[in-house]
Amino acid sequence: MKNSYLAHGKVILMGEHAVVYGYDALALPLKSLQIRTTVERAAEMWMATAKYHGPFWAAPAEYDGLKYVVRTMLTKAASQQPLKFTYRGQIPTKRGLGSSASVALATTRVLNDYFKLGLTEAEVIAITNQAETINHGQASGLDAATVNSDHLIFFNQKRGPVALQAELKASLLIMDTGELGSTKEAVALVHQQLEQSPAAASKLATLGQLATETKTAWLKQDQQGVGHNFNRAQAILTSLDLSTAKIAELQKIALSHGALGFKLSGSGLGGIVIALCKDQVLARRIATACQSLVTNSWIEEI
Ligand code: MEV
Repeated sequence: MKNSYLAHGKVILMGEHAVVYGYDALALPLKSLQIRTTVERAAEMWMATAKYHGPFWAAPAEYDGLKYVVRTMLTKAASQQPLKFTYRGQIPTKRGLGSSASVALATTRVLNDYFKLGLTEAEVIAITNQAETINHGQASGLDAATVNSDHLIFFNQKRGPVALQAELKASLLIMDTGELGSTKEAVALVHQQLEQSPAAASKLATLGQLATETKTAWLKQDQQGVGHNFNRAQAILTSLDLSTAKIAELQKIALSHGALGFKLSGSGLGGIVIALCKDQVLARRIATACQSLVTNSWIEEI
């Protein structure tokens, strides 16, 4: 018997880090980037990913979230059956594209089906999010909610996800800096600043407010307003030491070519950046201008 599940990635538009402290955030599912998780009976517990191929429980610490999911589901199923887990897809890891949430969600779902456990949606998301907490040190639930959604997500921890079906009518250029960001490190860095300075708390409040305002601008198809908010958020994220020299260089190129706004996306310290463009022609032009600095780019019609 073999079960598999295809889960997609995500891109955070606004409110990263602030969302960990209860503020609003806005995030987009990235359906063009997916990972397929497959589970099947095996001679021993085994994991096969692009980076690791070996005994499941001996996998490196970056897979601790997945180990939690599998341990939890085997306990629920009261099973000791050895299984092989295979992960295949195009979501690069450690870039803020949601790979860890995507595989945690898919692993929970395949095991729910494989063992016919009948877990509720809320239980599946709770297990996914606990895996994310193990991966990130602290997780808001935003990544789990967005990889589980087909629509734009407006989120805060208290209210949970609200799906929005509205279009902004613009193009979003997503570029991979190729720099590996560590969400755990970035979340800890922000936490440390919060403990040391009251200014950090007000910066996070502003980031959250910008997410609320961005949602309003989005619903009015106010592309200029959304772009302006991207730039304001990028200035704050930079002041929190989450940006890099390469991101600053990409920002200069994108804005000088006419992007409506530019920011890093996800936890920062590398990873992906997003540039809001009035149309696909401009997005392509900026992607070409940035080509030598990035490892990959994608354009989403939003
Ligand atoms: C990471 O993709 C987003 C953060 O806000 C952490 C979280 O929301 O759990 C940095």
